Amino acid sequence: MTPHPPAAGDRSRVLTGDTPTGRLHLGHWVGSIENRLALQEENECYFLLANMHAFTTRSESPEEIRADTIEIVKDWLACGIDPKRSCVVLQTEVPAIAELTWYFAMLLPFNRVMRNPTLKTEIESKGLGDKYSFGFPMYAVGQCADILVFRPAYVPVGEDQVAHIEMCREVARRFDQIYCGVDSHAEDGDYVEAGGVFPIPEAKVGRIARLVGYDGKQKMSKSLGNAIYLSDTPKQVQKKVNKIFTGRQSPTEPGDTFNALFEYVRAFICDADRVSELERKYAAGEDIGDGHIKQEVAGAINELLDPIRERRADYEKPGGDDAVIDVIREGTARANAVAEETLWLAKEAMKLDFFPRKLTEG
Ligand code: TRP
Repeated sequence: MTPHPPAAGDRSRVLTGDTPTGRLHLGHWVGSIENRLALQEENECYFLLANMHAFTTRSESPEEIRADTIEIVKDWLACGIDPKRSCVVLQTEVPAIAELTWYFAMLLPFNRVMRNPTLKTEIESKGLGDKYSFGFPMYAVGQCADILVFRPAYVPVGEDQVAHIEMCREVARRFDQIYCGVDSHAEDGDYVEAGGVFPIPEAKVGRIARLVGYDGKQKMSKSLGNAIYLSDTPKQVQKKVNKIFTGRQSPTEPGDTFNALFEYVRAFICDADRVSELERKYAAGEDIGDGHIKQEVAGAINELLDPIRERRADYEKPGGDDAVIDVIREGTARANAVAEETLWLAKEAMKLDFFPRKLTEG
């Protein structure tokens, strides 16, 4: 079978995903969503709902996982992910992912998976101790399959996912070397040309790798209760911004702009001159109160969120969930065409091409 080119024309393939665990927040926006929207303009994008991964830690909450899956699609569509251009893909309806996961699991030493720093951090931060399921570390192998089944050039992700992408790159190299005869000295960019099934995909981290939460201490995250959500109301945004801890509360460094509030100033106020002016005035100890800056920051965030709120409202009307499911169905069907092709290429390389199969659409 002759493979289709990785993507039509000059467009590259792009894959990324989210585990449905709740609504998206500003950390997701600056870490990854902005990049996705930019990439969507010129490329063939697949946005994966990693709903199977949600079961690795919440297997007893299927209703919640289902609701979170629908919610996250609403967030994506509200942000501007365009289902006409890009595919919204439901992981549990792409069987090729589960199959590739098995094959890839054989290419990764068990201890290599367990040394994955993102998994280790998660085990700690979620307090999993030694009680996690077998499926929990397995998700990191699954994520290699999520990505490689689309043979993408780029994977736009937050900084916390870079360790997973690195493991995925290792799997791709190993597969291509073992089953496609690619020389182990080949440059990453030459693997497909050298006969490999899989390209070595590149992570693309957003402009702000880790946005601090409004507690001013730790990275913005749902579980730490310090997140400003894309679906928060203007009032909620102002209230949360008002809570941001600033350097002025520390008597030793009154005008230091390396504080949480100024991280938000730099992240969300678009006018660069205004940002410099605020920094200068603040550093010089001029009469510019935290309260005023907080109002400006909340204003900028609300300006960013207004069109997102508006688009979200459309999907919150009756029938919104059905519209979301239609988007998922169509995106997943298109994704399966690519995924099945990749799986077949991988099986050919592995001498598993006994006979082809076709998925039927129900
Ligand atoms: N692990 C990612 C997260 O928790 C979600 C994810 C699953 C993903 N598969 C992926 C991200 C593939 C990028 C590529 O956010």
